[in-house]
Amino acid sequence: MSSFLDRAAMRLAVIAATASLAAVAWAGETQKPGYYGYGTAPTPAQVVGWAIGVRPDGQGLPPGSGSVSKGADIYADQCAACHGTFGEGEGRYPKLAGGEGTLRAERPEPTVGSYWPFATTLFDYINRAMPFPSPHALPADDVYAITAYVLNINNIVGNDFVADLNSLPKAKMPNRDSFIWNDPRPDTSAKECMKNCADPKKIKIESTAEGKDLTPRTTGPLDEMKPK
Ligand code: HEC
Repeated sequence: MSSFLDRAAMRLAVIAATASLAAVAWAGETQKPGYYGYGTAPTPAQVVGWAIGVRPDGQGLPPGSGSVSKGADIYADQCAACHGTFGEGEGRYPKLAGGEGTLRAERPEPTVGSYWPFATTLFDYINRAMPFPSPHALPADDVYAITAYVLNINNIVGNDFVADLNSLPKAKMPNRDSFIWNDPRPDTSAKECMKNCADPKKIKIESTAEGKDLTPRTTGPLDEMKPK
C-alpha cells in the first residue's frame, strides 16, 4: 500500500503527463485556422440527415406526395387525439382550423387557416415537430398527405387536392397578405458602413419607429396595449 503522499505525487505526475499530451495536441491543431481542438467536420451524409428545412418558396421540399383522403386516415391515427378530428383541438391542445377573422378580436384564435402565411412551412413544421410524442417519425408521403388534410379542413384546398413539391408553394393561405414582408422600421434598411461613413454630426433623425405607429405602448395593462 502506498502512502497518501505517494498517491498524491502519482496523481500529479499523471496530470502533468496528460497536460503535456494536450499541449502537443493543441500545438498540432492550431495549425488549422478556426479549429478549436474538438469536433470533426460533418460528412455530407450527416448534413443531409439534419438539413430538413423547407423555405416559404418550397425550396427543400422532398420528393413524394399525399392526398387529402389518405391524410384524413393518417391524421385520425396520429394527430386527432390532440388536435381534434377536424382541427378543433382537444382540451388545451392547439386548434389547427377555424378562427378566421378573430386576429384583431379580443380573443384571437391563430390557426393554420386564420394565421399561417405559407402551406410550405406547414409541411416543414409537421415534418420536424409532429406528432408531438415522436417528431420527424413519419415518411414524407404521410406528411404531404396530412398537410393536404389540414389545408382541406381549413377550406384552403379542395377534397381532390394532392400535396407535393409543386402544389404546396401554390396554395394561397388566407392570412398571407396580412404579414408585413418588408420590415418598415427605418434602421433595418440602413446600409452598414465600415469606411468613408457619414459624419455623425451631419446625421439628422427624420422619423422614428414610434412616429410610424410600429411601437406598441409599453406601459399600462397588457390587454390595452395599442400602437401609440
Ligand atoms: C400528444 C399531442 C399531440 C399530437 C399527437 C400531435 N400534436 Fe401537434 N401539437 C401539439 C402541441 C402541444 C403543440 C404546440 C407545440 C408548441 O407550441 O410548441 C402542437 C402544435 C401543432 C401545430 C402548430 C399549431 C399552431 O398554429 O401553432 C401543428 C400544425 C400541429 N401540431 C400538427 C400536428 C399534426 C399534423 C399531428 C399528427 C401528425 C400532430 N400535430 C400530432 C400536440 C400534439
